Amino acid sequence: MALYQLYNMDCISGAQQKIDDNSVDLIITDPPFAIEGDRLHKHYHRKEKYVLNGYQEIALSDYRQFSLNWIKEAERVLRPGGSLYIFSGYSNLPIIFSALQNTNFREINHIIWKYNFGVYTTKKFISSHYHILYCIKPQGQVTFNTFTRFGPDEKDAQGKSLNYRDREDVWIIKREYKPGQVKNKNELPSELLIKLMQYSSNEADVVADFFLGGFSTAKVAVGLKRRIIGFEINPVSFDYHIEEMKKLKPGFLLAQIKSGKNASPPNQKKQWHENELQNLYKRYIQIYTQLKNKKQTIQILQDEFGRGYFAILNQLDRISKK
Ligand SMILES: C[S@@+](CC[C@H](N)C(=O)[O-])C[C@H]1O[C@@H](n2cnc3c(N)ncnc32)[C@H](O)[C@@H]1O
Repeated sequence: MALYQLYNMDCISGAQQKIDDNSVDLIITDPPFAIEGDRLHKHYHRKEKYVLNGYQEIALSDYRQFSLNWIKEAERVLRPGGSLYIFSGYSNLPIIFSALQNTNFREINHIIWKYNFGVYTTKKFISSHYHILYCIKPQGQVTFNTFTRFGPDEKDAQGKSLNYRDREDVWIIKREYKPGQVKNKNELPSELLIKLMQYSSNEADVVADFFLGGFSTAKVAVGLKRRIIGFEINPVSFDYHIEEMKKLKPGFLLAQIKSGKNASPPNQKKQWHENELQNLYKRYIQIYTQLKNKKQTIQILQDEFGRGYFAILNQLDRISKK
């Protein structure tokens, strides 16, 4: 698959036409919330002239069927063991839950994302959080890179584990403030997307976003050298952001992301021995025969041999040329 495949299409028919069964490693998506999105801006203190027009909302009466339809497609395209993260406000969250219950997805965590610039109100509490539902499709190898951002021994100034804190399920992450820049309604911050992708995917994995909006997931995916496939129905937003994508250099975020100390593969610096190479090839054939998927096979071998993805790939290429 190319680095990115992004389409100005409805995500349900788009997925049916463009994405094969079991071909995606991770879905991160932020569907419309069916809360009259076009009136949302009245609560925000921002200059609307910079917000792109044409955001497509869904009528509340259609939301149940719509949610079920796209979540069923997400289930079809995700590989067994693949991860799904859905963003939702609280108003129609029960509808998302009910759609999920009509699938085989298993809910793993319910993350609360607390953001700044809440929806200002005077006669009730101010809404300043979203829900992120983390689910997996059963019966496959799950990618969860426990120490990718903070190693097991990293501590803060008070001696508390940074890894523990980073993996708690309440996240306080600021929205990005972009004065004078063109934006979409409800853009997700890169920091949040980087965190999800670091934990639940690896380089070269296929990430999908069914509701691209301002292409924030797509941009972060390219920045972390993942491949991305996705849909946005609004031509105004699509035409603007597809041009922005062309300016991005793959991997542009890699130098600035958190990287857990001691998170590198334990055998990274060790020389390969002949019997280890023979064993590697033998295990590759055994696992590949079952999975019929080179990337997933190598990911399993990474754990077994304590080596990095590309180190294994290179050795397999070398052996096959002998
Ligand atoms: C909440 S926004 C996504 C925001 C995005 N996560 C970001 O960070 O910019 C939802 C987007 O879904 C789009 N949309 C609505 N219905 C759609 C459909 N059936 N297929 C594809 N996109 C759709 C809307 O136009 C809107 O841009």
